[in-house]
Amino acid sequence: MKKIMVYSIKGGTGKTTQAKTLSKGFAMRGKRVLEIDLDPQGNSTKSFTQVPNDIKRLTEAISELNSAYSKEKELLFIKQYSKQQTGVCLSDVFDDPKKIIEAIRSTRFNHLDVLPSNLELSQTDTKLRLETMKRQENRLRKALNHVRDCYDLVVMDCSPAKSLLTVNALMTEPLVLIPVDFSDDSLQGIALTLQEINALREEYDEIADIDYRILLTMKNSRMRSHQNTESLVRAFFGEKVLNTTIRFQESPINEANEKGLTVLDIKKSNIAEDYEMLLSELEEIL
Ligand SMILES: Nc1ncnc2c1ncn2[C@@H]1O[C@H](COP(=O)(O)OP(=O)(O)O)[C@@H](O)[C@H]1O
Ligand SMILES: [Mg+2]
Repeated sequence: MKKIMVYSIKGGTGKTTQAKTLSKGFAMRGKRVLEIDLDPQGNSTKSFTQVPNDIKRLTEAISELNSAYSKEKELLFIKQYSKQQTGVCLSDVFDDPKKIIEAIRSTRFNHLDVLPSNLELSQTDTKLRLETMKRQENRLRKALNHVRDCYDLVVMDCSPAKSLLTVNALMTEPLVLIPVDFSDDSLQGIALTLQEINALREEYDEIADIDYRILLTMKNSRMRSHQNTESLVRAFFGEKVLNTTIRFQESPINEANEKGLTVLDIKKSNIAEDYEMLLSELEEIL
């Protein structure tokens, strides 16, 4: 079972977009894929498990009512949106690794399952830190042992926060994919992410030799500064930088998000071509 961990301490670098596109893409290529949502915001979870058109259905349900406030509409709204993600989630797996079997959910896509998270996962780091009598950093590795024959690939979507969740993910010995965008602090983002990985490697003996690749993403090739940044990153990091660069293209991304799909399903977009290249490149490395 191979593992990819999409990680950067910088927010908004497209981690979730990459994790879910790679998960779906490898599943389309016949691999049995498990995506683990390690971000308490649960964006990957929502995009794979929520029924699209939720808002449309709710709007239809109130179509006879006017725009004035009513208790009836308030109750309808609360009923619809207060529903917690029921069932077992990733936070329960950190309490008891065996629970992974109950927590995994299938998606509407072939070969693709998700280990979902919700906001409760934001408590997990603190909870783990208080459990000083038991080892806290190998829970995810233990959990994955229970399903190691069920999947060819695990893709982990991480939050930018420094936490024991990151340590747990690194302990599974993944290939770390560090997405880098072209904003002003993108180079600092690489430096701090690598510094964090190196610090964890020193702190935890088991995080031996973690391999990583840098993925340049959201590039606008008409921008001179983007080209300069790309040259600089390639000059510093050589073969650690993937050949594929993902272009900035908003409309297919938005269309995919609205339909609960990925850009790979939006035909004739440049960005789908980029992702197909990325999938092939990663297939060679894994
Ligand atoms: N290649 C791209 N081109 C244009 N917009 C993108 C691209 N990749 C991601 N985005 C958008 O950038 C925003 C941040 O992406 P997201 O995947 O949520 O990042 P993160 O998980 O790192 O916070 C989202 O609105 C997403 O739709
Ligand atoms: Mg995210």
